[in-house]
Amino acid sequence: MARKKVDSDVKKTAVKEAAAPAAEKETKAPVKAAPAEKAAPVEKKTEPVVEKKAAPAEKKAEPVVEKKAAPAEKKAEPAKKKAAPAKKKAEPAEKKAEPAEKKAAPAKKKAAPAKKKAEPAEKKAEPAEKKAAPAKKKAAPAKKKAEPAAEAAPVVEAAPVVEAAPVVEAAPVVETTPVVEAAPVVEAAPVVEETPVVEEAAPVLDISTLPRRSVAFIGSECHPFVKTGGLGDVMYALPRELVKLNCDVRVILPRYACIPRKYQDKMVYRGEFYMDLGGTGRDYYVGIMEYVCDGVVYDFIDNQEFFTSGNPYTNLVDDIPKYCFFSKAALAALNYMNWIPDIIHCHDWQAGLVPVYLRTLFKDTPVGRARSILTIHNLRFQGIFNIPTIKYWSGLPDSVFNMGALQQDYVNANMLKGGLAYADRITTVSGTYAWEIQTAEYGERLEDHLRYHSGKLRGIVNGIDYEMWNPETDPALAENYGLANVLNHKMENKKALQRELGLVEDEGKFVIGLISRLTNQKGLDLVSTIVPQVLDGNTQIVVLGTGDAQYEDSFRYYEATNKGTFSACIQYDEARAHRIYAGADALLVPSRFEPCGLTQLNAMHYGTLPIVRETGGLKDTVQPYNDFTGEGNGFTFDRYDAGLLLDAINRAKTVYFTNRYHWDEIVQRDMAKDVSWTNSARQYKDLYLELTQW
Ligand code: ADP
Ligand code: GLC
Repeated sequence: MARKKVDSDVKKTAVKEAAAPAAEKETKAPVKAAPAEKAAPVEKKTEPVVEKKAAPAEKKAEPVVEKKAAPAEKKAEPAKKKAAPAKKKAEPAEKKAEPAEKKAAPAKKKAAPAKKKAEPAEKKAEPAEKKAAPAKKKAAPAKKKAEPAAEAAPVVEAAPVVEAAPVVEAAPVVETTPVVEAAPVVEAAPVVEETPVVEEAAPVLDISTLPRRSVAFIGSECHPFVKTGGLGDVMYALPRELVKLNCDVRVILPRYACIPRKYQDKMVYRGEFYMDLGGTGRDYYVGIMEYVCDGVVYDFIDNQEFFTSGNPYTNLVDDIPKYCFFSKAALAALNYMNWIPDIIHCHDWQAGLVPVYLRTLFKDTPVGRARSILTIHNLRFQGIFNIPTIKYWSGLPDSVFNMGALQQDYVNANMLKGGLAYADRITTVSGTYAWEIQTAEYGERLEDHLRYHSGKLRGIVNGIDYEMWNPETDPALAENYGLANVLNHKMENKKALQRELGLVEDEGKFVIGLISRLTNQKGLDLVSTIVPQVLDGNTQIVVLGTGDAQYEDSFRYYEATNKGTFSACIQYDEARAHRIYAGADALLVPSRFEPCGLTQLNAMHYGTLPIVRETGGLKDTVQPYNDFTGEGNGFTFDRYDAGLLLDAINRAKTVYFTNRYHWDEIVQRDMAKDVSWTNSARQYKDLYLELTQW
């Protein structure tokens, strides 16, 4: 906020003239602040929640059978000390230098913020670090120094103008690298007692046989420090998995004031320097605070002007400068630490400028040798703002503000679009979404741009962290269970959940959970439309989420009018989320679009059957139940239509109430399904190798 005062003039001028259309769309990014509570209203538009009548489900929903359901039987060393501040080229002011006072810097930037303050983040007890973790190793950290990648990518300097190309399939980027495998099993799949379905245990690799690569993750959130959605989960889990594949991983994050005190206290001061930023004419303080955990090094970029908010995302007027600063500071910090990674793996629009900086202002600095990957977790958010403002804050050369790169239209620039043009590879979080975003329906106006770059685009589906999500050890649960005893013990969790939420305690009821950001993306208008038809006397619904007021209010209304059968938990509560995954019978994910989706994976791993719309990662991870063959993992519908959602729910109920044997089989099959990061992390590693063949 101090920044607002000091720069207000400049900023206002820059910002004013073209706050532009795109702006308001993201102004309310889906920030659900990790730190519990509130949550800025999200996303753009807002359809009226309660739509008209639910279209008659086409397939005719089987009548929901009433009869009582028989209760189912039941250290990576923080890079050696100081390293010569690698010559910093075009980069920020020769770090250090001038004493702080001289810079107009409002918030007297602290020199050595070793123990800086940090609002205690009112957060709730995150189950995160609870670490129930099953055995498993822990790959050696890695001191390794990254050999410079071959040489700066042959990436376009000023990318060519986009043109429409025919829809292409998620581009096959040559799969070169050998997947090194080795020794057999360790990951012994949970013991199966009765029923079938055990998936092959993944072979365990002998890490020493794998080629080593160093990777810097750059993104805006990461569990357990700050999380508003799945991006935080991925930024936490994937690096840990990559360490097991002989990667030396550093995760670079903003040091938000809302990061819980317990983590702030563990951070170690790693250094500081000053960096210029765009047209501000100022040198900004960049502190580096480090925290090492399970072989992953976390470097937090410290600057109290930019990262004071209690919420990572606020509004674009503040977020654009914040992430211009962060993207540039992240690269400058790598130079400063003299830790030059082989790969720089950026995530979403907040790190979208990184690939652009890498090939422009940082091109002739040490970090300029790294190859870059930009992962799209959610194309809806792109960091769009008027051109003068983004020029002003980024300080990027005019040459990148063309239609092939940052320019969006006559008025606006788009940070994600620029990153996509300059990144050496683009990935997104499922194969289907990689295809979908090249179409007008899901492309968020970047479909042409993505088709143009389809040769470097690929989809790699997310997984979930098996230590964080493990019903056998999860401390949040009323009773732990595994594949072998789920049929006996899941019911205890259902009863405990009903008790906790004030629902009628009856294990015979069909409990449907919904855990989600309450935004337009998530298909909540469909849910609101059909709640009355779903609540048939044998069904209960539990909603956990925060977001748009219209959805929050709609669900509060249903709770008020359906006491004992509908629970609206309008909050962000990790531990409760775990209990819902364990206690519900089914989990709804009827998204309008879903790049990957993690809640359906968590649900399956907890023996809770997903009911999802066939889009993005939901389509790739949930195979529809087939009544005749008994195969499948859940219940699905295709068109975005309330009647079809109702039909899918009714099909699930029918199996639950009339064919419990089959239902239980699916429960076990889902728990045995491999939704871990193992396979996907290998694909990322292959991609890293493919980009660094020397
Ligand atoms: P998105 O990233 O679009 O929000 P994902 O399905 O990828 O959706 O990830 C959502 C993650 O956030 C999951 O880990 C889910 O359990 C968690 N989550 C969402 N809402 C809440 C909430 N209100 N309380 C606790 N966890 C939540
Ligand atoms: C985004 C998407 C979600 C995905 C998550 C992690 O928030 O909305 O589908 O699972 O990122 O990649």
